[in-house]
Amino acid sequence: MINLTFYGHACFGVDTGSARLLIDPFLTGNPLAPVAAADVDADYILVTHGHHDHAGDAAAIAGRTGARIVTTVEVGQALFSGCDTVAGNIGGTLRLPFGGVKLVTAIHGSGVPGGLACGFVIEADGKTVYHMGDTALTRDFELLANDDHPIDALLIPIGGHYTMGPDDALRAVEMIRPRLVIPMHFGTFAEIGEDPAAFCAAVEKTGAAARVLRPGETIAV
Ligand code: NI
Ligand code: MN
Repeated sequence: MINLTFYGHACFGVDTGSARLLIDPFLTGNPLAPVAAADVDADYILVTHGHHDHAGDAAAIAGRTGARIVTTVEVGQALFSGCDTVAGNIGGTLRLPFGGVKLVTAIHGSGVPGGLACGFVIEADGKTVYHMGDTALTRDFELLANDDHPIDALLIPIGGHYTMGPDDALRAVEMIRPRLVIPMHFGTFAEIGEDPAAFCAAVEKTGAAARVLRPGETIAV
């Protein structure tokens, strides 16, 4: 079992039982953050790309906790040279003590010259959680559908402007066919103000479950 906690925007905690993962920590300056950066713990910090609303608190939390940073090579070199970093690249699976982290395509700027943004497919304790990062719609998502071992939880951006909006996100869900869909990257800033409840209602018509998490809420996956 994995416990998943939403910290607002694209930030999630993933507790695998043996490790505490923190994805895209953006707590300082995030109006939806339910905790301060000084009050979260982590063993690994996964950073999809170098934009401030994903990488913002990563180095500070790593410095305080000793957590290892997991990201793509150029983002690691540019932003986390002073941290203990495990850097991979798109298509690779990083084998870590708690399980696997596969770096997958995200169509988005990395925030650093020459770098790539990514999504993370995390496998731990028999469960699979896919954090899509910031991304546009791409047919590459079809490659991640696996009806024998579906994604247990899909964390998907729906806010538009910088990422997919709800219509494209719904098409992504139809390609990936996960068990549970959790929208993210909405409502934080004025330009990303989509309606997560309407999105979830549309997702449920596809046969997947969908859930809007309140910042600070934890669910078992
Ligand atoms: Ni971004
Ligand atoms: Mn973003």
